[in-house]
Amino acid sequence: MCGIIGFTGKLQAAEILVGGLEQLEYRGYDSAGIAVNENDQTKIVKTTGKVANLREKVSTADDISGTCGIGHTRWATHGGVTDTNAHPHVSGNVTLIHNGIIENYKELAASLKEKGYFAVSETDTEVAAMLIDSLYTGDPFTALREADKILEGAYGFCVMFKDHPGEIYCMRNASPLVASYTEDGAFIASDMVALLKYTKDYFVVPEEHIVVMTQDAITLYTMDEKVEEPKMLHVDWDTTAAQKGGYAYFMQKEIYDQPEALHNTVMPRLHNGHADFSADNISDDIFKGINRVVVTACGTAMHAGLIGRHLIESMLRIPVTVELSSEFRYMNPILDENTLVIVVTQSGETADSLAALRLANERGAKTISIVNVKGSSIARESDYVLYTHAGPEIAVASTKAFSVQCAGMYLIALKLAEINQMMSEEEMADYCAKFEEAIATVEDVLKMDDYIKGIAEKIKDTFSAFYLGRSLDFGIASEGSLKLKEISYVNSEAYNAGELKHGTISLVTEGVPIIAIATQDHVLSKLMANVEEVKARGAHVIMVTDKDMSAYDGIYDDLIQVPEVDDKFGTFGVTVALQLLAYHVTVFRGYDVDQPRNLAKSVTVE
Ligand code: G6P
Repeated sequence: MCGIIGFTGKLQAAEILVGGLEQLEYRGYDSAGIAVNENDQTKIVKTTGKVANLREKVSTADDISGTCGIGHTRWATHGGVTDTNAHPHVSGNVTLIHNGIIENYKELAASLKEKGYFAVSETDTEVAAMLIDSLYTGDPFTALREADKILEGAYGFCVMFKDHPGEIYCMRNASPLVASYTEDGAFIASDMVALLKYTKDYFVVPEEHIVVMTQDAITLYTMDEKVEEPKMLHVDWDTTAAQKGGYAYFMQKEIYDQPEALHNTVMPRLHNGHADFSADNISDDIFKGINRVVVTACGTAMHAGLIGRHLIESMLRIPVTVELSSEFRYMNPILDENTLVIVVTQSGETADSLAALRLANERGAKTISIVNVKGSSIARESDYVLYTHAGPEIAVASTKAFSVQCAGMYLIALKLAEINQMMSEEEMADYCAKFEEAIATVEDVLKMDDYIKGIAEKIKDTFSAFYLGRSLDFGIASEGSLKLKEISYVNSEAYNAGELKHGTISLVTEGVPIIAIATQDHVLSKLMANVEEVKARGAHVIMVTDKDMSAYDGIYDDLIQVPEVDDKFGTFGVTVALQLLAYHVTVFRGYDVDQPRNLAKSVTVE
């Protein structure tokens, strides 16, 4: 949610900033802007629309030279998508970019008005710039620290002060920032992908810290101005992992990354019929004596929770609830030390999921997170973290991150079973073998790409679609439906198949696509009865299954049959087929697959 970048050093800043914003664009693409400082001059270029518009405007701008600057790509929260509302914002001495939301901006704006500050934009961010300027008496550090005491909400700021040329001051409470120093200069950004061209070594700026960037150094300070040694991290994926690499879209590439992502996430953790978390330093203690599991997450990650719920409940008989983090944090949840709270998140920064985790920690539950981004806030604050090894996911619609999140659930289920002696050695060995077999089928599903594209073409013009599934398949259907809806704008919903006739079936008319998921033998005949009901009303039925469907010939119009796996592991192959379906429908409809309207990948505000 909003991408920010800053650089000061020996190189020209504008290209670094615009190039970095192109990498950060998945965080928001309503408008973009940069400010470049040279001596006592700060030049600003900003514009609505994608970073490509900014690049164009920068290329024709009058002199934008300078080796110190800040850049921003916006996902609008307060104030419409206009040039004026685009960052950077300026007030007096201060030029500022911001990721987050200032919750008390209205009160602050009113009191700043009395001091002669009038906003030109409708943003909360400009109020922060005005506040910092009002507190500034020549020492940037003091102004920021004082502002920190007054501001409410979430923020990561990069600030340039007119009379401190060549320097950038950054402060964060909640919104993520990573920083680095190389011989070219000092860098800061919302996410490492923006800096990969220049370095693979970085540190995460801790919450409630200030970073001072000069051309020769980068220094991390606590709020009481003590220098703190940053904890350096290293990006271990190849820099090409954040490139499209010949694919038309990041989403397409990320779908194709899945065999490797699954292999890297699962195989190092399966040893001799056991889940082995020793390399993750996850103590077995966290799984002992658990009598309840709560999974909390947002969006796609929540759907991985639905898969986990089905698995853990059906296999281990431990009650599991799946809670949207945005609700969980306000529902006064009942938690104790025998509750295992699993937070699932690709970015590790989703504001609601972070708040849910903090609540779980406060209430004494055991917490483990399934996270893709190393060193992210949720990873740092959980008792334990099981990292998924998907590499960077750039497309807004999550694909490979979902598959590995599900894999994380399957691993945790196995560990829970072992620690609580719920499966025999033979059962665990069998589970591992079937798990491996299932993830191996993803390669075969990818070979069905053209075939699935043909089916996508048949439904590309539809207004609505429904995904049906029972038990485990409801989780798969939910994710398949979200994929289609978020990128193609088809009005799509997922239903527990038996529930459709309690209202929604009234929307099923001639030709409406019904995508029915069938990986569960024990409910297959029930599901097919529901499919018959919609077929009788003229639906265009697409069966997505690993089963032999010959007994049901004539009930469906199209069949996507992936390789058969054990029912417990039906998730992987079918999920990939549904991702390809959503991808191709969107390409046929002519939309930007990677950057669907109004969305952002990393939602760091409530
Ligand atoms: C946003 C993204 C989704 C993602 C969700 C949760 O809405 O567009 O793709 O599933 O946030 O993100 P997280 O990083 O916590 O998995």
